Amino acid sequence: MAFRSLPPLVTSGAHGGEAYNSVQTPVQIEFRNVTKVYGQFVAVKDLSLAVSAGEFLTILGPSGSGKTTALMLLAGFAAPTTGEIFISGKSIGSVPSYRRDQGIVFQSYALFPHLTVRRNLEFPLEMRGIKSSEKAARVKRMLERVHLGDLGDRLPSQLSGGQQQRVALARALVADPPFLLLDEPLGALDRNLREQMQVELKNLHREFGKTTICVTHDQEEALTLSDRIVIMRAGQIEQMGTPEALYDKPRSRFVANFLGEANILENADFEVGAGSALPGAVAMLRPERIRVNALAAPYLEDTDRYATAKGFIEDMTYCGPLRKYQVRVGQTALITREHVNTEKQIFRSGEGVRLDWLRSDVRFVSA
Ligand SMILES: Nc1ncnc2c1ncn2[C@@H]1O[C@H](COP(=O)(O)OP(=O)(O)O)[C@@H](O)[C@H]1O
Ligand SMILES: [Mg+2]
Repeated sequence: MAFRSLPPLVTSGAHGGEAYNSVQTPVQIEFRNVTKVYGQFVAVKDLSLAVSAGEFLTILGPSGSGKTTALMLLAGFAAPTTGEIFISGKSIGSVPSYRRDQGIVFQSYALFPHLTVRRNLEFPLEMRGIKSSEKAARVKRMLERVHLGDLGDRLPSQLSGGQQQRVALARALVADPPFLLLDEPLGALDRNLREQMQVELKNLHREFGKTTICVTHDQEEALTLSDRIVIMRAGQIEQMGTPEALYDKPRSRFVANFLGEANILENADFEVGAGSALPGAVAMLRPERIRVNALAAPYLEDTDRYATAKGFIEDMTYCGPLRKYQVRVGQTALITREHVNTEKQIFRSGEGVRLDWLRSDVRFVSA
């Protein structure tokens, strides 16, 4: 769908000839107070965001939070209602989509169904007026890079989902764009393939060094791939930071719940253990920070660093490498998560247990 808005093929483009051979320097991208309103509806609200050159930034958020809209504004398929977008310090407000030079992968891949894999890859090169000899060499190299060297003559419909996904990535990269936009790029793949492609995307990013903005609602994908994550909620940035910072220090209940699982210890009738919350904040504890012990287990030596609570197992879920318990402590049901390990005692439903956690692992998040 993206390329449909493009003008007819050109024979000499803005990047024609020699200059195009050089690897383009990745660009810096900045949204400055960008708002997009559709009718009465504010899809993106006062978005300010700077992406460093070569960074892999993920926009993560629930469906309808404005992620795709932000990407479409950057790609030039929609115009901001107010605010401006800059690439390497230059406002791109008056630059049409086809001159923004980005590589794009859509969730649906948007491959040209009537063109072979090779022709799909040649298209962006023709758009930029690359000579045929160079075009063929580049397409060949890129197809080999994404392990599709033998499939150049197939039509997209003759490929598996994972192969189509690779073609889409290859097509986005083949013209050596200064930045890459990915909208739910792995959304259509099943779990195993998604994990493989996450690794592949990471390798491609390391190799090509493109400034990349990836949109997803998949928290695992965001955590795995990104230098930084932006969490969007209702058109606005809720929080941004490195995957570790967001996971370990979420500022709000929304972020704590969206990125990973969280025990929100509101109205707990036991001592949570790390001072008291400011008004409007609640204590949060990640499931893997809680140790599940037998009631009679010896206390850890350094007791004042630990908080403790007694309860009973309400439910146990075995998920391969992980075991999850739901433990009832008074009015609160806590979720715990531990790696399955032959030395660990397994508790059954109804069994009494003692939970221990480091007081310093408790976080306070805005309610
Ligand atoms: N062209 C449009 N016209 C009207 N509303 C739109 C349009 N595009 C998006 N929206 C609305 O803006 C909101 C954000 O959409 P989108 O950016 O696609 O969300 P996300 O990608 O986070 O799921 C949605 O409520 C959607 O219905
Ligand atoms: Mg979307």
